[in-house]
Amino acid sequence: MISNDIKRVFYSEETLHSIVADMGRKISEDYKDKNLLLVSILKGSVVFMADLMREITVPCKIDFMCVSSYEDGTKSGGVVKIVKDLDIKLEGYDVLIVEDILDSGRTLNYIRSILLGRNPRSIRIAALLDKPERREPGIDLYADYSGAQVPDAFVVGYGLDYAQKYRNLPFIGVLKEDIYK
Ligand code: IMP
Ligand code: MG
Repeated sequence: MISNDIKRVFYSEETLHSIVADMGRKISEDYKDKNLLLVSILKGSVVFMADLMREITVPCKIDFMCVSSYEDGTKSGGVVKIVKDLDIKLEGYDVLIVEDILDSGRTLNYIRSILLGRNPRSIRIAALLDKPERREPGIDLYADYSGAQVPDAFVVGYGLDYAQKYRNLPFIGVLKEDIYK
């Protein structure tokens, strides 16, 4: 069982549910009179997106973008590549980028600048997790909606992967050290 590889659970299913429900309520309040488009960044945000959109009570559309930044482990390659682009044209939309975790900020900084160039009415970021102390110097990026701040640890589950695995864990935790060897 993959849960045997977990050393410590950071956020249980119940905790995640209440974090996401809370965020959904705030977003529903803020986007009452807007033209909301949720842009999910694949693959990491897939579980968060599926839960968050069901907590949003105002009309919205959804779209997906797939980028790859981390090669195959816990270190950033530094290069962000668009693997799948959006289908919807952004003009007139209040875009909310839905991302699993904000780490160095490189990925979202890049995505945000690309999307801004497509003239949306507004653009904001919803990140389930944030590691503010990991932000790269010079990248001035914050989440408009952030679920929780995590210490500088590599976490998996609820969409987050290590070498593409563990996304299907229903909770978020840290792996045992020997998994990385
Ligand atoms: P950034 O560009 O450094 O901000 O990295 C953001 C991306 O790196 C996220 O969308 C994740 O896919 C990945 N990432 C960063 N930290 C973690 C972690 O602790 N666990 C799993 N993936 C992570
Ligand atoms: Mg990842």
